Amino acid sequence: MALVEWQECYSVGNERLDQQHQRLVAMINQLGEAMDTGSERPALIKILNGLAGYTKTHFSEEERILEECGYPDLAEHREEHVVLNRQLADFYRDFYMTTRPQTAEVMAFLKGWLYGHIVEKDQRYSPFLGP
Ligand SMILES: [Fe+2]
Ligand SMILES: [Fe+2]
Repeated sequence: MALVEWQECYSVGNERLDQQHQRLVAMINQLGEAMDTGSERPALIKILNGLAGYTKTHFSEEERILEECGYPDLAEHREEHVVLNRQLADFYRDFYMTTRPQTAEVMAFLKGWLYGHIVEKDQRYSPFLGP
Protein backbone atom coordinates (compact mmCIF):
# COMPACT_ATOMS: atom_id res chain seq x y z
CA MET A 1 0.00 0.00 0.00
CA ALA A 2 1.69 3.19 -1.17
CA LEU A 3 0.35 5.69 1.28
CA VAL A 4 2.40 8.61 0.25
CA GLU A 5 3.04 9.50 -3.34
CA TRP A 6 5.67 11.89 -4.51
CA GLN A 7 4.43 14.55 -6.89
CA GLU A 8 6.40 16.91 -9.06
CA CYS A 9 4.77 19.94 -7.40
CA TYR A 10 6.53 18.99 -4.14
CA SER A 11 9.84 19.84 -5.75
CA VAL A 12 11.77 22.65 -4.07
CA GLY A 13 13.85 23.14 -7.21
CA ASN A 14 17.03 21.61 -5.80
CA GLU A 15 17.85 18.12 -6.96
CA ARG A 16 19.74 17.10 -3.86
CA LEU A 17 17.01 18.23 -1.48
CA ASP A 18 14.29 16.71 -3.67
CA GLN A 19 16.12 13.39 -3.58
CA GLN A 20 16.32 13.55 0.18
CA HIS A 21 12.61 14.35 0.45
CA GLN A 22 11.85 11.43 -1.86
CA ARG A 23 13.93 9.15 0.30
CA LEU A 24 12.00 10.24 3.40
CA VAL A 25 8.73 9.51 1.59
CA ALA A 26 10.09 6.10 0.55
CA MET A 27 11.03 5.30 4.15
CA ILE A 28 7.54 6.16 5.36
CA ASN A 29 6.05 3.92 2.68
CA GLN A 30 8.46 1.17 3.64
CA LEU A 31 7.20 1.37 7.21
CA GLY A 32 3.58 1.27 6.02
CA GLU A 33 4.27 -1.81 3.92
CA ALA A 34 6.14 -3.53 6.72
CA MET A 35 3.21 -2.90 9.07
CA ASP A 36 0.71 -4.13 6.49
CA THR A 37 2.57 -7.33 5.90
CA GLY A 38 2.77 -8.02 9.61
CA SER A 39 6.51 -7.52 10.06
CA GLU A 40 7.85 -8.17 13.51
CA ARG A 41 8.37 -5.34 15.91
CA PRO A 42 12.20 -5.22 15.67
CA ALA A 43 11.93 -4.76 11.90
CA LEU A 44 9.52 -1.84 12.35
CA ILE A 45 11.69 -0.24 15.01
CA LYS A 46 14.65 -0.54 12.67
CA ILE A 47 12.82 1.33 9.90
CA LEU A 48 11.69 4.05 12.32
CA ASN A 49 15.23 4.36 13.60
CA GLY A 50 16.43 4.81 10.05
CA LEU A 51 13.76 7.43 9.42
CA ALA A 52 14.70 9.39 12.54
CA GLY A 53 18.39 9.27 11.64
CA TYR A 54 17.87 10.26 8.04
CA THR A 55 15.56 13.08 9.06
CA LYS A 56 18.34 14.58 11.17
CA THR A 57 20.81 14.26 8.31
CA HIS A 58 18.36 15.90 5.91
CA PHE A 59 17.51 18.78 8.25
CA SER A 60 21.20 19.59 8.82
CA GLU A 61 21.96 19.57 5.14
CA GLU A 62 18.91 21.64 4.29
CA GLU A 63 19.86 24.21 6.92
CA ARG A 64 23.39 24.37 5.56
CA ILE A 65 22.11 25.00 2.03
CA LEU A 66 19.65 27.64 3.27
CA GLU A 67 22.44 29.33 5.18
CA GLU A 68 24.59 29.44 2.04
CA CYS A 69 21.87 31.07 0.00
CA GLY A 70 21.03 33.55 2.75
CA TYR A 71 17.46 32.43 3.31
CA PRO A 72 15.91 35.23 5.42
CA ASP A 73 13.60 32.95 7.43
CA LEU A 74 16.24 30.39 8.35
CA ALA A 75 15.85 30.87 12.12
CA GLU A 76 12.14 30.11 11.90
CA HIS A 77 12.79 27.14 9.64
CA ARG A 78 15.42 25.77 12.01
CA GLU A 79 12.94 26.06 14.86
CA GLU A 80 10.41 24.11 12.84
CA HIS A 81 12.98 21.34 12.34
CA VAL A 82 13.61 21.22 16.09
CA VAL A 83 9.87 20.80 16.70
CA LEU A 84 9.61 18.07 14.05
CA ASN A 85 12.55 16.18 15.53
CA ARG A 86 10.93 16.37 18.94
CA GLN A 87 7.57 15.20 17.58
CA LEU A 88 9.25 12.25 15.89
CA ALA A 89 11.11 11.35 19.08
CA ASP A 90 7.82 11.43 21.06
CA PHE A 91 6.12 9.40 18.38
CA TYR A 92 8.97 6.90 18.38
CA ARG A 93 8.70 6.51 22.16
CA ASP A 94 4.92 5.93 21.95
CA PHE A 95 5.39 3.49 19.10
CA TYR A 96 8.01 1.62 21.08
CA MET A 97 5.78 1.34 24.12
CA THR A 98 2.55 0.41 22.36
CA THR A 99 2.08 -3.29 21.88
CA ARG A 100 0.06 -3.05 18.72
CA PRO A 101 0.45 0.28 16.97
CA GLN A 102 -2.28 0.79 14.38
CA THR A 103 -1.04 1.20 10.81
CA ALA A 104 -3.59 3.88 9.94
CA GLU A 105 -2.69 5.94 12.99
CA VAL A 106 1.03 5.64 12.41
CA MET A 107 0.73 6.56 8.75
CA ALA A 108 -1.59 9.48 9.44
CA PHE A 109 0.93 10.91 11.85
CA LEU A 110 3.94 10.43 9.58
CA LYS A 111 2.12 11.67 6.52
CA GLY A 112 0.99 14.83 8.29
CA TRP A 113 4.34 15.26 9.96
CA LEU A 114 6.33 15.08 6.74
CA TYR A 115 3.88 16.52 4.24
CA GLY A 116 2.99 19.50 6.35
CA HIS A 117 6.64 20.41 6.27
CA ILE A 118 7.83 19.48 2.77
CA VAL A 119 4.73 20.67 0.98
CA GLU A 120 4.19 23.89 2.91
CA LYS A 121 7.25 25.08 4.79
CA ASP A 122 10.00 23.78 2.50
CA GLN A 123 8.22 25.30 -0.50
CA ARG A 124 8.75 28.75 0.99
CA TYR A 125 12.52 28.65 0.61
CA SER A 126 12.34 27.42 -2.97
CA PRO A 127 12.48 30.90 -4.61
CA PHE A 128 15.59 31.75 -2.58
CA LEU A 129 17.65 28.79 -3.78
CA GLY A 130 20.27 29.55 -6.38
CA PRO A 131 20.05 28.05 -9.88
FE1 LIG B 1 13.11 19.33 3.92
FE1 LIG C 1 12.74 21.85 6.11
